[in-house]
Amino acid sequence: MCFVLLFLNTFEQKISSMPFEKLKPQIQDILSNSKSSVESRLTEVCEVLEQNIPYYDWVGFYFKNGDKNELKLKAFAGEPTDHTIIPFGKGICGQVALSNQNFVVPDVKAQDNYIACSIFVKAEIVIPLFVNGENLGQIDIDSHTADPFSKEDELFLEFVNAEVAKILE
Ligand code: SME
Repeated sequence: MCFVLLFLNTFEQKISSMPFEKLKPQIQDILSNSKSSVESRLTEVCEVLEQNIPYYDWVGFYFKNGDKNELKLKAFAGEPTDHTIIPFGKGICGQVALSNQNFVVPDVKAQDNYIACSIFVKAEIVIPLFVNGENLGQIDIDSHTADPFSKEDELFLEFVNAEVAKILE
């Protein structure tokens, strides 16, 4: 019985990580195209994620804005946002700029320090992007689905950020 459950669990994990495994080489291809600007490559990555993962409704990359303690939106897919500049400490993004930790928000309504970009957003995930060990940016995903993110998303987005870091070093 235990064995069967273990098997089912492993099987379930394999199934749930399948779209991510398929997307990984695609992300690497996009990022390795040195003929295209970094901004265009990042935009393409955002588009691929937004189009292929049904519960990713807005995908963007924010980066530290020069020597200012604020984030600046560099690339995105989805509806344009007013929040192209976010001070460190403000909102989910600004908190991640300071904490260096993944921030998974299953229900945005439960957060006090949250900046709303659209009334349709129910959940958000922000993963810091480290370049040579320094938290220089982040990938931010908004979802119109409640509580959609799992550990698989975190691992996948950490992979995406590590690949992006390689072209920024
Ligand atoms: N919700 C974010 C702001 C960025 S938008 O999601 C595009 C936050 O609270 O930091």
